[in-house]
Amino acid sequence: MAILFYIVILIIIFVLALGLYQKSTNRICRSRKRLEEKTVIVTGGTTGMGLQIATDLAERGARVIIACPYEDEGEAVKKEIIKQTGNEEVVFKLLDLSSIASIRNFVKEIYDEEDRLDILINNAGVGAVTDFITKDGMSFIMQVNYFGQFLLTILLLPLLKKYATNSEPARIVNTSSSFHWFGSVDFDRLNDIKYWYPLFLYANSKLCLVLFAHELTKRLKEPNIVVNCLDPGAVGTGIFGCMGKFLGGFITLMLWFFSKTPWEGAQTALHVALDKHAGVVSGQFFRNCSLSSARKIGSDDKTAKRLWDESVMLVGLSDVELQQCLFD
Ligand SMILES: NC(=O)c1ccc[n+]([C@@H]2O[C@H](COP(=O)([O-])OP(=O)(O)OC[C@H]3O[C@@H](n4cnc5c(N)ncnc54)[C@H](OP(=O)(O)O)[C@@H]3O)[C@@H](O)[C@H]2O)c1
Ligand SMILES: *[C@@H]1O[C@H](CO)[C@@H](O)[C@H](O)[C@H]1NC(C)=O
Ligand SMILES: *[C@@H]1O[C@H](CO)[C@@H](O)[C@H](O)[C@H]1NC(C)=O
Repeated sequence: MAILFYIVILIIIFVLALGLYQKSTNRICRSRKRLEEKTVIVTGGTTGMGLQIATDLAERGARVIIACPYEDEGEAVKKEIIKQTGNEEVVFKLLDLSSIASIRNFVKEIYDEEDRLDILINNAGVGAVTDFITKDGMSFIMQVNYFGQFLLTILLLPLLKKYATNSEPARIVNTSSSFHWFGSVDFDRLNDIKYWYPLFLYANSKLCLVLFAHELTKRLKEPNIVVNCLDPGAVGTGIFGCMGKFLGGFITLMLWFFSKTPWEGAQTALHVALDKHAGVVSGQFFRNCSLSSARKIGSDDKTAKRLWDESVMLVGLSDVELQQCLFD
């Protein structure tokens, strides 16, 4: 028993030290790129890292669309970003990634109201919350973190392609996590919330994102869209707050002391969205503002293809629509 106790203490010390090391050596996005006339979407741009990303992009002059499932929160944050940056071109749109209907509605509004889309930052995500099956029949965690973003990304491809060129490609940025190392893709149990602990569903969803980037890169014939994933590192946001009062509160407190601030955590996403060299690679994985690598299975062709097919089926994309989004 005592030995177990020491092992746990050792692990905790190791994790805290790793967090401190990451925090103290965190690289900053150095790009000076301006984004006047450009439009970007930051899903979940209302709190945590998403808010920092949205604010930075607004400061660079972009038209910034933030999207989350709560109208009041979204409108308030929108005003806050406008006040802070002086950029009036900040828009809030309702988007609930746990609902296919909401995603489709969001996409329809975007096509009705926007002429272009240059950068899509898939930042929204939930942590290891208590899971349930959504009305679309998927695990809530998997749908918000992966399936919803899969559908959203594919439906937005035509708009992303519209003004994209090979020298100035549109960019898709997916927020994965180092937790993808613990993830697995079990096709019989993708949405089996009785089988998986929430933390594993979280890990699985983040691995699926990596596979998605790999497969999408292969399927996009023209090099005018690049799609990359990143790991922000351990960041002190509220994302683990919902793991229950005690555990969630404890983790959030620990993160606060020993991990990156949301601003620090946002730097790699900004790097992937803006940096010149990050704009010429696709299907890659970034960490600490530099090219890194994901787990090998993240680029396994067979798994990526099968996951793609399953995802298409689960989110109800028809062949015709898929073809239109990919090739028109
Ligand atoms: N924090 C970390 O240590 C860490 C590490 C690795 C990866 N990440 C990833 O980084 C991303 C950002 O995390 P964060 O730490 O900044 O988390 P956060 O502070 O909890 O922010 C998450 C954002 O996602 C939005 N969101 C949640 N459910 C949604 C839904 N159903 N539809 C649309 N938007 C939804 C939230 O909107 P509301 O505020 O309206 O709920 C919020 O804006 C996530 O993908 C996370 O998995 C975080
Ligand atoms: C982040 O990058 C910097 C500069 O390249 C490096 O010195 C540092 O060790 C890196 N930190 C981590 C956690 O990889
Ligand atoms: C991430 O990148 C992949 C590949 O580009 C893309 O298909 C997917 O929709 C993006 N979003 C998520 C959440 O994986």
